[in-house]
Amino acid sequence: MLPQEIIRRKRDGGKLTGAEIRFMVEGLTSGAVGEGQVAAFAMAVLLKGMSIDERVALTLAMRDSGTVLRWDLPGPVLDKHSSGGIGDNVSLMLAPMVAACGGFVPMISGRGLGHTGGTLDKLDSIPGYRTQPDNALFEKVVREVGCAIIGQTADLAPADKRLYAIRDVTGTVESIDLITASILSKKLAAGLDGLVLDVKCGNGAFMSSLGEAQGLARSLVDVANGAGVRTRALITDMNEPLAPAAGNAAEVAVAVAFLTRAKRFPRLEEVTIELGAEMLVIGRLASTLDEARTRLTATLDTGRAAEIFGRMVAGLGGPVDFVERYQDHLPQAAHTRSFLSDRVQRVVDIDTRSLGVAVIELGGGRVLPTDQINPAVGLTDIVRIGQVVRRASPILTCHAATAEKAEEIGLKARLAIDLEDVTFEEQPPLGQMSEPERPTIIERIGPEEWT
Ligand code: URA
Repeated sequence: MLPQEIIRRKRDGGKLTGAEIRFMVEGLTSGAVGEGQVAAFAMAVLLKGMSIDERVALTLAMRDSGTVLRWDLPGPVLDKHSSGGIGDNVSLMLAPMVAACGGFVPMISGRGLGHTGGTLDKLDSIPGYRTQPDNALFEKVVREVGCAIIGQTADLAPADKRLYAIRDVTGTVESIDLITASILSKKLAAGLDGLVLDVKCGNGAFMSSLGEAQGLARSLVDVANGAGVRTRALITDMNEPLAPAAGNAAEVAVAVAFLTRAKRFPRLEEVTIELGAEMLVIGRLASTLDEARTRLTATLDTGRAAEIFGRMVAGLGGPVDFVERYQDHLPQAAHTRSFLSDRVQRVVDIDTRSLGVAVIELGGGRVLPTDQINPAVGLTDIVRIGQVVRRASPILTCHAATAEKAEEIGLKARLAIDLEDVTFEEQPPLGQMSEPERPTIIERIGPEEWT
């Protein structure tokens, strides 16, 4: 077989065989297929597309380019993938909640991408936590605790690493076929029985329109099921941050407050419970979504999920008393600046992407891949759409390394939030939203047989 002949066939809209796709992926991994050929192949796929069979073959070949983990555990191996958003710290709570219900969650997470935050960067704000443990420690923590959240190791789907780097600089990142194979090859290499996908939709997501989100969700669900992993997807709203905080240490703090029930976060709780319910049903740990919701809620009420989170952190090198004393362990920014409302106002809109960009400008995300992140910076107290803000109450608080940045970037973030005046008659009772909230769960996609 010749790479140039395979590229020509795809360029002309032809359908590739499984053998041709495997040949390209083997060459991609070994280096036998040159960078120019990989780039041309990626562009041909972007322009001409791939059938579901081709996507499944590409995903499996990329999965098999490195180690594929095999588990022998007394429960189903389950995971979640999110397409990324702002204040999306769901993984931190979901993994221990599902583990508390009998699932095993070996979660391979990523760093921040574009304007969105990454689970690994959040975990790096916990002193001592090892996001790159060796396989033996990873497997031990999954087996003994029920969950471990770590980063991609070098031997997991190496074909994706090279292909992603070439896509990144050749205008081929946006191909739904290549995104699907990229995401799923890494997830399937973790040896999963079931997977749930959280495809975000809105002005803080990569997919801003519902049509785009549906296209990605459908592709991921069809390919993952075609590859033998029971998978469903939820399309969820990302027109405002999910947590009232954006930034690494700040989102870990929200996760602990959530798990211990110290504070309630309704939208975050709904998304976490709904994703978890899908996982329990897919993993046959519950027979209905309702039963699953009840069990997941109980893991919070009893403190069991918080306990598992604490054991995961300690098992991976973090402080043994992290849950009890997280405020002492998490880094604090040197300067904070709260932006307060000067009158009674209602939040009508949030430019969510701009809040993510503000976190990067504060140093909480990267401009260059080699940049060091400052985990302490970020935004907290972010208001919600529909919320009525009283006089002198915060619209958001900015945490920064310098007073100038707290002022300048905090103001930019503040201006990303649109407010309108509220008359006395329109004011809802204290603590209530002024209007019905938009749905957080927009659509469910995937085979019905598990629900
Ligand atoms: N995340 C990935 O892992 N790969 C993509 O192609 C896009 C998002």
